[in-house]
Amino acid sequence: MRTPLAAGNWKLNKTVPETCRLIVELLPGLQAVSGVEIVLFPPFPSLMVASILLEGTGLHLGAQNMYWEVKGAYTGEVSPLMLKDFCQYVIVGHSERRKYFGETDQDINRKVKAALEHNLIPVICVGETLEENETGRAAEIISKQVKGCLTDVTVTNGSQMVIAYEPVWAIGTGRAATAEGVDLLIRNVIRPIMAGMLGEHIAQSVRVLYGGSVNPDNAAEFFVKPEIDGALVGGASLKGDEFVNIAKAASQA
Ligand code: PGA
Repeated sequence: MRTPLAAGNWKLNKTVPETCRLIVELLPGLQAVSGVEIVLFPPFPSLMVASILLEGTGLHLGAQNMYWEVKGAYTGEVSPLMLKDFCQYVIVGHSERRKYFGETDQDINRKVKAALEHNLIPVICVGETLEENETGRAAEIISKQVKGCLTDVTVTNGSQMVIAYEPVWAIGTGRAATAEGVDLLIRNVIRPIMAGMLGEHIAQSVRVLYGGSVNPDNAAEFFVKPEIDGALVGGASLKGDEFVNIAKAASQA
């Protein structure tokens, strides 16, 4: 059994005071949701205060990115050591990092290994662009990304990592993928590759999320699918009522 996961990726949004307000607004609704793991990903400056506000609530916290080195002359970077005391999760390889900051599968692979070494759960993002989708290359691109990100990675338990399938063309566009298509891609591409690299048992126990224009109206369609274990939510995670309703939909499915 894979526990459903509702994750809110706040991206480059919310100052520290705004973070406090949003968490205070979210808490009653999110705490009333049962059977779903909930993780918030505010920006770096807000992590400390978020960890204090979330303490004892049962909700989890993650960072949106990190570097793979633990310390040293890497101006502007944040290391797993700096996150591990108050974060449980870290997003790695989001398509916006790949697109705007030139991250490669090799970089992401280093981040995955660094996260695991420091007991942070990496949420590893993969997804094809519109052009790759329209030329029928989605499966090929996803395979390459999953293989690249998981090279020489070992885990003993499926709960140590999460995969997020986020087609680039669906992110922030209001045009979500179809739940059927996502379910098939996870079953036929993502889990078989994980099985080959990590073993069948791990492949069946790693949670695979969908991300890309998830909202309270379409969330349930994804959550009812057997292969989709939750959602990585961007825009709708910044609106208190919407994110609570998405978490509720996960609980009902
Ligand atoms: P979106 O973003 O929900 O705004 O489409 C999802 C994501 O980028 O994680």
